[in-house]
Amino acid sequence: MTERPAESPVTALRGPALSFSGDPFSDGLERTMVHEPDAIVAMQDGRITHFGPAGTVQRLLPQGTEIRDYGKDALISAGFVDTHVHFPQTPMIAAYGEQLLDWLEKYTFPNELKFADKEHARRVARIFLRENLRNGITTSCVYCTVHPQSVDALFEEAEALGLRLAAGKVLMDRNAPDGLRDTAQSGYDQSQALIAKWHGRGRLLYAITPRFAGTSSPEQLAAAGALWRVHDDCLMQTHIAESRAEVAWIKELFPDRRSYLDVYDHHGLCGRRALFGHGIWLQDDELQRLYVTGAAIAHCPTSNFFLGSGAFDVFRATARERPIRVGLGTDIGAGTSFSILATLGEAYKASQLNGRSLSACHAYYLATRGSARAMYLDDRIGSLAPGMEADLVVLDMRSTPLIDFRMNLAADFADQLFVQMTLADDRAVQATYVAGRMAYSRTAPGLV
Ligand code: GUN
Ligand code: ZN
Repeated sequence: MTERPAESPVTALRGPALSFSGDPFSDGLERTMVHEPDAIVAMQDGRITHFGPAGTVQRLLPQGTEIRDYGKDALISAGFVDTHVHFPQTPMIAAYGEQLLDWLEKYTFPNELKFADKEHARRVARIFLRENLRNGITTSCVYCTVHPQSVDALFEEAEALGLRLAAGKVLMDRNAPDGLRDTAQSGYDQSQALIAKWHGRGRLLYAITPRFAGTSSPEQLAAAGALWRVHDDCLMQTHIAESRAEVAWIKELFPDRRSYLDVYDHHGLCGRRALFGHGIWLQDDELQRLYVTGAAIAHCPTSNFFLGSGAFDVFRATARERPIRVGLGTDIGAGTSFSILATLGEAYKASQLNGRSLSACHAYYLATRGSARAMYLDDRIGSLAPGMEADLVVLDMRSTPLIDFRMNLAADFADQLFVQMTLADDRAVQATYVAGRMAYSRTAPGLV
């Protein structure tokens, strides 16, 4: 007789909780937002087993289950998802005085040259992942550098933490310095080898990563498209229509293409699981094409403001008649904060500049289920429900004296959430759980 494997213990967290069962941009908040003022989230073997009102769930848990009560000033949420970030740019946040194309030349490329050294890449990957967990980010879609060893370093560190994470080697065969270019063929071969090694290993996923049309020849874009056709369950990430100078340059480089998106589309780089960073200056026909093909945009507000690129219009992108999938990105190191709360605060300001106000509830959707959906992972992460992977963040809604003071005057739950995204940062993250395991605790920061 074979023995049944011993089941791991159930872990249960108690406190107010927020989640989304659908998309509030298309279906409204009433039908999609789940706010439970006193909830229990129970987890076992890396998955959520129960989520609901504490009184109901408590009765269903095995006798003797330990319940960690975070109290009434906490907020339990699905872990935050960052859909666009460059881990190698962690050391170059706050690079002064340039806009996109000059910023790449002056700061980014010299910095990325250092990632030929795998040990350097590993040191930076550790700091990057520690900052993610300190900010409640449990999944991200990451650009590495052109060096395959930078991808190995990040995946090895992410695997040790049990994270669900997507990443890829940057493809770049022109308009970049010596030591930072591959070729259409070598980039294809290296990406293919990395896919074989990492894609689908544990919780890790590969993202085919042509940096952008400015640094890839037509041959390289075609090779990336061919690779994605073979491995269509990988993600594909790149940049698009971030700054006006960039859009004008791409037009010069690809005079035969109808639009910036058409450059990618022509080479087979548009479709489900494609994630386009920025997209501020896309035209209506390009937005329509993104919608039809199921591609997504990563909204990176702190970066867009830092580089002076512009203010992305999230309501235009998610318009009811052709709602494009939109996720949130920190875009470190043009982005200026690992804090998703701070990033949401800037997303609000971007919407204000476009004449609309992004509600706090819609913003939290973007940071969780919306971003998971942009990555085609919303069946596994991004919300609280039985069967979902147990990646969680527990916020402290009174993390500073000013927030505490302001919270006393908050009119309702939406106002409380808005206070967080306007005033809070990493100090508000009490704990981060990865696959049901506490991976960060504010009171025991040595965990990571
Ligand atoms: N476009 C091409 N590469 C980059 C990058 O590293 N950061 C940003 N913000 N835009 C880019
Ligand atoms: Zn970027």
